[in-house]
Amino acid sequence: MKAYPHRHLLGIEELSPEHVQTILDTADGLREVLDRPIKKVPALRGKTVVNLFYEPSTRTRASFEVAEKVLSADSLSITTATSSVQKGETLLDTARNLEAMNPDMIVIRHSSSGAPHFLARHCRSAIVNAGDGAHEHPTQALLDALTLRQKKGRLKGLRVAIVGDLLHSRVMRSNVWLLTKMGADVVLCAPPTLVPPGIEALAPVTHRIDEAVEGADAVMMLRIQRERMTGGFYPSDREYHLRFGLTAARAARAKKDVLILHPGPMNRGVEIASEVADGPYSVILDQVTNGVAVRMAVLYLLLGGSAEAVA
Ligand code: CP
Repeated sequence: MKAYPHRHLLGIEELSPEHVQTILDTADGLREVLDRPIKKVPALRGKTVVNLFYEPSTRTRASFEVAEKVLSADSLSITTATSSVQKGETLLDTARNLEAMNPDMIVIRHSSSGAPHFLARHCRSAIVNAGDGAHEHPTQALLDALTLRQKKGRLKGLRVAIVGDLLHSRVMRSNVWLLTKMGADVVLCAPPTLVPPGIEALAPVTHRIDEAVEGADAVMMLRIQRERMTGGFYPSDREYHLRFGLTAARAARAKKDVLILHPGPMNRGVEIASEVADGPYSVILDQVTNGVAVRMAVLYLLLGGSAEAVA
């Protein structure tokens, strides 16, 4: 497996196409460990990882934990609801106290954009961004890319429509950086109220889902992030579904072998109809499986895993 020069994974924006390729190739190489009868290799024996989650998570946290166990790292997960954050401890004090226990890596999810970058400046551990505000979710974009590459054999030249709540989406931002770096054609679609200012500099934006989906190789639906909304961004869930929801009839406008992706959790009947989410073109659960392989690759590359131990 190739050498990897970065100490942290803070975002896709700062990665070169070669480094994206290295992570995806490493994930491909490590994935077979998950199919072995004994899903455990001593590649990261003696390394300690802290998963520090200031926001709820099912997929990201669980897959980091599984990846850490498969690679034999020692790990612990801290959720802020049951930590001293509830007593007012700052992010920096929390991180410094955890670092006093000598971990090698901190995986952090935080509601503030830039929180992982702040820790990277103040901590000696490797820092991995597991989602920071509406900024980036790099491991999500990597697992999406792994899924697309696995199913289509390439990223270059694919037409990918990203549809939904663009305004609050770190998944969208990381995917736009990754897919455009790797030569895919991205089109974004949302109501005008859910488009972040300036995003059209990175990829074209349409407000018509039929136009976005037309001829697409892949359609990535984004969750309506109600928990981040402070005002009325759309009239009702029903109206949103009528104008921007992905139904089977709309998906039929894409290529006949289209892939349907969603990072989860889904709002069924709002951004995506169940017939599509559970339908033959959906790769939503493949994304979750690939999430373990991608997180194994990130842990392995940043912590200097042993290739002999994997073999
Ligand atoms: N896709 C994703 O980040 O899901 P979780 O919020 O459940 O981790």
